[in-house]
Amino acid sequence: MTDAISKTPLLAVRDLRVARQTETGEVEIVTGIDLTLNEGEVLGIVGESGCGKSVSMLSLLGILPPALRVSSGSAVFEGEDLFAQEESRLAKLRGSRIGFVFQDPMTSLNPVMTIGAQLSEPLRYHAGLGRKEAWAEAGRLLLLVGIPGGESRLSSYPHQLSGGMRQRVMIAMSIACRPSLLIADEPTTALDVTTQAQIVDLIFDIRRQFGLSVIWVSHDLALLSQIADRIAVFYSGRIVEEGTAEQICSAPVHPYTQALISSMPVANRGEGRRLKTIDGLPPDPARRPVGCAFAPRCERREARCLVAPPALLPMDGERRAACFVAHDEARELVR
Ligand SMILES: Nc1ncnc2c1ncn2[C@@H]1O[C@H](COP(=O)(O)OP(=O)(O)O)[C@@H](O)[C@H]1O
Ligand SMILES: [Mg+2]
Repeated sequence: MTDAISKTPLLAVRDLRVARQTETGEVEIVTGIDLTLNEGEVLGIVGESGCGKSVSMLSLLGILPPALRVSSGSAVFEGEDLFAQEESRLAKLRGSRIGFVFQDPMTSLNPVMTIGAQLSEPLRYHAGLGRKEAWAEAGRLLLLVGIPGGESRLSSYPHQLSGGMRQRVMIAMSIACRPSLLIADEPTTALDVTTQAQIVDLIFDIRRQFGLSVIWVSHDLALLSQIADRIAVFYSGRIVEEGTAEQICSAPVHPYTQALISSMPVANRGEGRRLKTIDGLPPDPARRPVGCAFAPRCERREARCLVAPPALLPMDGERRAACFVAHDEARELVR
């Protein structure tokens, strides 16, 4: 434990807030997120669509859409606050120290440039290789990510590759300059099930070889339970529960996490129970309730939940949770 405390995390995000400009003022999309990623760790981020997972990741990379801006917070990565850097420095970090893989490789790859041109660009710009060396290294990277033919495929354009192959190219690009952090935002969501499994395996293979730390965003808790060390559960722009993968998947304390777990097909298999779904939708950030944002959908809602949002408090071990009912239950356990 003392060891963990004395170690500097690879990434420490504190009170991240992201706002959207509207005609009537600013709306908070991300409402104060703290995240810590230790070296070598895989941090899973889970939550339904629209909870601010991607917006949080884009803010770390400095590539938020124009309507959004980081309105407060810090994100210290390898000793520098990402939110205090010039765009030129962020561009350098994105290409070299932080790799990223998104859901749709078509939006990240340039359709009018060959794979080879796109792969060799970061190698020349960030790693300082010459044209020929970069081309040869690009070919080696393609082989490394399981694209047969390696160098001979470098003259292909993205549309000539299948979705799975394009995602392999994205992975090759993300690791070209040996980053220490990989941000994977739903990297397999757009792929068929067989390809999904292959891409997950590939990323884990690469992670081992390169000693990467990973933030893996997914709405699939079953997947995260297998690959993550720790999991943070996002709901309506904040973290509602965070803990080890074991704590989150086997003994969740927040009603939202509990609902996510009971809607997981794997958890229910063989128990003869009907799959539960969570009624309703996460709130629109412009119309977030004053109390707990999950209260309108929560089976354990009490009057106090509608008055003010609960704080994210330390619970057992590494766990933190933001729920009045869970806080009370934890206190009773201690008593
Ligand atoms: N380009 C954008 N312009 C304005 N609002 C956006 C944009 N992208 C996302 N948002 C808003 O940010 C919120 C969180 O979105 P997102 O981070 O994409 O969710 P998730 O990745 O968890 O599904 C949503 O309510 C969405 O309306
Ligand atoms: Mg997303």
